[in-house]
Amino acid sequence: MIHIVPKPTDTPDDNSTAMVVREIRNLGGSCRYLDLDATDPFATGLSGEIIWACGLKQDEHQFEVLNALSISNTVVNSPLSIFTCASKVMTSALLVRHGIATPRTLFTASRDVAVRFLEEQGRVVIKPVYGFDGNDIFLIDSADQLGRPPYYLQEYVPNDRDFRVFVIDGKAVGAIARVSDTLAHNIHQGGTGMPVEISPEMQEIAGAAARAVGVDYGGVDLLRYGRDFCVLEVNGTPNWHCMAAPIPRQLAEYLLEKERFLRK
Ligand SMILES: Nc1ncnc2c1ncn2[C@@H]1O[C@H](COP(=O)(O)OP(=O)(O)O)[C@@H](O)[C@H]1O
Ligand SMILES: [Mg+2]
Repeated sequence: MIHIVPKPTDTPDDNSTAMVVREIRNLGGSCRYLDLDATDPFATGLSGEIIWACGLKQDEHQFEVLNALSISNTVVNSPLSIFTCASKVMTSALLVRHGIATPRTLFTASRDVAVRFLEEQGRVVIKPVYGFDGNDIFLIDSADQLGRPPYYLQEYVPNDRDFRVFVIDGKAVGAIARVSDTLAHNIHQGGTGMPVEISPEMQEIAGAAARAVGVDYGGVDLLRYGRDFCVLEVNGTPNWHCMAAPIPRQLAEYLLEKERFLRK
């Protein structure tokens, strides 16, 4: 039995959780929904089970419950990796530590240090540390635009598109390019996604990034960087909008395989 935390943003027309549930059942597996809001982590009776978080509310309650459940259950993705992905600072630190190409990034509470970096770079991308969906990301070229600390600032990488690569178990299984007229090409910002072939370079860097942040599966955001790619971030509860690959089927297979392994 796979216990499933549904994606809070699911709608009747766009229901990621239901797509995977259907595939699990088609493959002969069994699963049930787990309502984290109504789960007391100290008295669940859940132990030795697989819990799959298709999504998580960005509130402290759901994360805490899932984290507590991970003491005696296998949670996919692990709460630690979901937290790592949510934090752009932790993600950047791990990318740098693993020697994975990523734009030059600064994180500081010092306005002076931030201004110096901005002057060196000429213009930088500023992002909220726990941001998502391309929200509140800006290209700035003057100290007046810095706002309040702390500052997560990044080298601007000129581009006309970005790439989202879906990785399962270290292997890139699907990729799209996203284009838009705005800085952030996220679908949520009005970007258009179209499937692209996974090149060996994409495979290598996306797989390495997913491994570096410790996810079983994830959505890796890439930009072209010179003749290669760089990694912006990894999403620990990714969507698969616009992907041509049969991601729900592949996720279902992965989860059932994980369950078989656990039962051995
Ligand atoms: N350093 C950068 N240079 C150029 N564009 C960027 C840079 N960082 C982010 N972007 C654009 O903004 C989008 C969102 O950035 P990302 O770091 O993935 O944050 P989010 O979690 O909000 O998706 C990227 O997919 C890309 O289109
Ligand atoms: Mg992103």
